[in-house]
Amino acid sequence: MEPMRILFISIEGNTRNFVNNLTAYAQKMHQQDSAHPLVESVEISDQTDFAQETKPFFVTVPTYLDGGDGIDSGVTELLTTTLGEYVGYKDNAKLCLGVFGSGNKNFNAQYCLTAKRYSRMFQVPFLADFELRGTDQDVQRIYQDMVERSAEVLTAQ
Ligand SMILES: Cc1cc2nc3c(=O)[nH]c(=O)nc-3n(C[C@H](O)[C@H](O)[C@H](O)COP(=O)(O)O)c2cc1C
Repeated sequence: MEPMRILFISIEGNTRNFVNNLTAYAQKMHQQDSAHPLVESVEISDQTDFAQETKPFFVTVPTYLDGGDGIDSGVTELLTTTLGEYVGYKDNAKLCLGVFGSGNKNFNAQYCLTAKRYSRMFQVPFLADFELRGTDQDVQRIYQDMVERSAEVLTAQ
């Protein structure tokens, strides 16, 4: 089975840490039973050369917003915009299977708002959220979400 591909951006390292744990968990699952897919991750940063993706992928994005309350007034996405631009590059969005949001619940209504905005902008499902570096349970839950979403898209084809 093809590895499940995940594109992410990480400013302070939480999302990178989560994706590393997810990749390690997938490896463990795959060793137990090769029917469990591996996870391959790609970190997008300001240094990334934009490319046309050729395989389906997931996105994980943390939220950094400036201004507004996220509901009534406009907010500006900070620091993570390169990932949004990458997904919007050429036909990449058509291959996006869904978005995972990372954030901090102290931000209340703005919790994971960037992932929710990507979901709307690119017309892809908002699949799940996790706080900060995520827990072991979050890793297992999101791995399962990726497996189910991949299967759903495959059977729809
Ligand atoms: C300046 C700043 C603004 C943030 N704004 C939000 C926000 O609006 N909503 C939210 O859910 N989390 C917010 N966060 C929390 C981050 O999304 C969270 O710490 C995330 O895990 C960071 O991921 P990273 O370490 O991979 O960059 C903010 C953090 C900082 C430092």
